[in-house]
Amino acid sequence: MPLLPLKTVSIPDPTRETFDAWLEELGSRLAAPDADWYAIARDTLFQLYHPGHTDYIELLEDPVTPLAAKASLLALDPHNVTLEPEYYADVDTEKFARVKPLLWLWQRFDHSPAGGTNVHLGVQFRRLLAPHIFARCGRNFKCFQFAEVSYGYNLDVGDDVVIHRHVLLDDRGGITLGDRVSIADYANIYSHTHSIDDQRDVTNARTVLEDDVRITYHATVLAGTRVGTNAMVGACAVATRDVRPYHVNVGIPARSIAVKSDAPPEARSTKRVPHHEGDSGF
Ligand SMILES: CC(C)(COP(=O)(O)OP(=O)(O)OC[C@H]1O[C@@H](n2cnc3c(N)ncnc32)[C@H](O)[C@@H]1OP(=O)(O)O)[C@@H](O)C(=O)NCCC(=O)NCCS
Repeated sequence: MPLLPLKTVSIPDPTRETFDAWLEELGSRLAAPDADWYAIARDTLFQLYHPGHTDYIELLEDPVTPLAAKASLLALDPHNVTLEPEYYADVDTEKFARVKPLLWLWQRFDHSPAGGTNVHLGVQFRRLLAPHIFARCGRNFKCFQFAEVSYGYNLDVGDDVVIHRHVLLDDRGGITLGDRVSIADYANIYSHTHSIDDQRDVTNARTVLEDDVRITYHATVLAGTRVGTNAMVGACAVATRDVRPYHVNVGIPARSIAVKSDAPPEARSTKRVPHHEGDSGF
């Protein structure tokens, strides 16, 4: 296969300067010690969705504003929406209340005229929000559009991680992403599971993707799974058990079909070695 490194793409200078100035302003507002993230989220979304208006309250209270428009305006304020994780019994209410406005801002930005598939602005915008939401966010975090996290505050992200479009990071039980992890389009990483007998019986288990792991298109990694360093989970696979370092696992349930050519001798073994009690390490 040919090596195809990413190209450099430019946008007009005045546009880039406006984007940069806006992100710098937003970054300073978010980082201020007394920052009100609920107000910042509401105001930012108002500007993104209603560029011709300057006064949110005035528009909301104007008797000629139709009810549907009022509902839409109200929903720009994170106080006025509920997000699914708020209904989970194990949510840390205080931690979630803190990050909720930024999760809402992230999600609504993705659907705004400025966001969505706009890579240049979108990657920088999400890179700005992520360190305020995640437990840890390393440098150069790169996230494309329509990715979704559950709690956000249970995510531990290393350096140079890439999250592609429509990825679900369910960090309810915690997710750790090592350095240079790459998660491809439509992949799902879970960290909670339900009993087959009683759906209310929930088990949270941290899912760990070690350094240099690649989870490819539409794959799913189930709760509590550890994908070893440099391992790969193939397209549409379901990783139900640990994946050994440098192994390429495919299928449902995902099993090793290959070991990467750069694997150290100890990783080349096809013998299944448990990573933790009860795990056969597929
Ligand atoms: C994991 C993957 C790389 C394997 O590719 P490969 O090493 O070329 O594997 P092969 O085509 O030689 O297939 C080996 C065997 O595994 C099977 N197989 C390969 N990928 C499979 C998959 N995703 N699911 C189920 N079976 C798969 C093949 O059918 C073949 O089976 P056979 O020996 O019975 O015929 C590939 O399936 C994959 O998922 N690619 C995703 C693309 C990618 O890199 N995405 C990341 C973008 S950021």
